[in-house]
Amino acid sequence: MPLGYTLAMIKPSACRKNHVGPILAMINQADFRISAIRSTKLTKEEAERFYEMHRGKEFYDDLCEFMSSGSIIALLLEKENAIEDFRKLIGNTNPEMAEEGTVRKRFAESLQKNAIHGADSPENAKREADFFFNQRERY
Ligand code: GTP
Ligand code: MG
Repeated sequence: MPLGYTLAMIKPSACRKNHVGPILAMINQADFRISAIRSTKLTKEEAERFYEMHRGKEFYDDLCEFMSSGSIIALLLEKENAIEDFRKLIGNTNPEMAEEGTVRKRFAESLQKNAIHGADSPENAKREADFFFNQRERY
């Protein structure tokens, strides 16, 4: 049985441009239930820890700088087959390759400012959910 939840994050650029409402509407329309939600701002160190799997890559420092440049919305989302279905809903990492009707096609500005993050494996979904939310915040 595929993991029934995923962790998502609306990135600073999308928050700055007031795309939060339309993105949440797309998430609800795709049948994800919001189990936990928080607006917060990451420190550079927290962004480095969140994206630690990319440590050493040439875009890592820029990415962490950007991810700590403004507020983000963290979301714990419940749905059967959540991880795969959510990656389909958000579309390709590179907005030039993102499919019609996806969140990134509509709201990404560039490869870095691509509007939204979605966990890519059960291990990362769990790690990222624990990063943002304790058990009392998940309903
Ligand atoms: P996330 O959901 O944000 O993790 O994106 P992803 O899983 O589709 O892509 P990946 O985990 O490989 O990369 C994490 C983030 O780093 C991406 O969402 C981009 O914002 C950024 N990124 C990835 N590759 C590049 C790159 O080649 N150049 C730049 N500037 N940024 C990149
Ligand atoms: Mg990723």
